[in-house]
Amino acid sequence: MYASSSVSKRLILIYVLAIQLLLINSELSLNTTNDYLNHTCLVSQGKYKTGSEYEKLIKHIMKRFYINSIRGYDLFGDSTFTAVLQCRGDSYGTKCQDCFVTALAALRRRCPWYKGKGRIIWYDQCLLSMDSKYSVGQIDYDHNFCMSNAKKVVEDRSEYIKVWNILVDDLTELAITGDNSTLYSVGEKRYKGDMVYGMVQCAKDLSRKACQECLWYNSFHFQDCVNYFRGARVVGRSCTFRFEFYPFIAKQVHNI
Ligand SMILES: *[C@@H]1O[C@H](CO)[C@@H](O)[C@H](O)[C@H]1NC(C)=O
Ligand SMILES: *[C@@H]1O[C@H](CO)[C@@H](O)[C@H](O)[C@H]1NC(C)=O
Ligand SMILES: *[C@@H]1O[C@H](CO)[C@@H](O)[C@H](O)[C@H]1NC(C)=O
Repeated sequence: MYASSSVSKRLILIYVLAIQLLLINSELSLNTTNDYLNHTCLVSQGKYKTGSEYEKLIKHIMKRFYINSIRGYDLFGDSTFTAVLQCRGDSYGTKCQDCFVTALAALRRRCPWYKGKGRIIWYDQCLLSMDSKYSVGQIDYDHNFCMSNAKKVVEDRSEYIKVWNILVDDLTELAITGDNSTLYSVGEKRYKGDMVYGMVQCAKDLSRKACQECLWYNSFHFQDCVNYFRGARVVGRSCTFRFEFYPFIAKQVHNI
């Protein structure tokens, strides 16, 4: 009697541990990290000196951005300086603030004054950009890039291309419609036995029309990077989209 009950207790323990492991794994598979993605220093916009008015303006605006970053977004634009902080749609409050602090520190290190007045840095959960001219609302066609996963789609690629095209189109439509123009949407579509999870977002300085144009332009321009792989993202100053075979947004809302 004693032996068998201890065996069943042990079995229960193993069962509980197994469930916990499964839960931990599914947490991990959300991949809610905040990886550094890329940066660019725009020396073509000229340099500035330490102690200059330009540097003072940057410092002043970045203080404001720090406070406002809890809203998930901030923008400043005049004829000599434009700055944008755009956090991913599910990243606001301290999450966005943390990303801003990380991004600003990294920008200072990677793009010091002599590397140019303009600079952009991208993380998983935010982008921070500065420009020595007025660029609010303008689509940036020059600073976009694509990162794809190593794994290729091997079977039925035309069906796969169709699925992600529909997903991007639907998510774009969703991002630019609705009551509040959040310019952000997430959703998923089935491809064979798998789910493809997607996200699109535009920086909030864009109009709905510009947002649509930016996403269309990038999904066309980067087809070769996107069509062949199990997961990819296109990232830019004005708009971004990403899709994966696993959910990567904390609350992947079932929009579609
Ligand atoms: C999480 O993301 C990394 C790349 O950012 C990827 O290699 C990994 O497979 C992802 N995790 C899961 C469970 O898919
Ligand atoms: C980083 O961004 C620039 C565009 O600003 C792009 O040309 C470059 O290929 C990107 N690097 C990587 C590793 O994606
Ligand atoms: C739109 O914004 C208002 C106020 O900011 C908010 O109360 C409302 O819930 C939002 N609606 C949606 C659909 O997100």
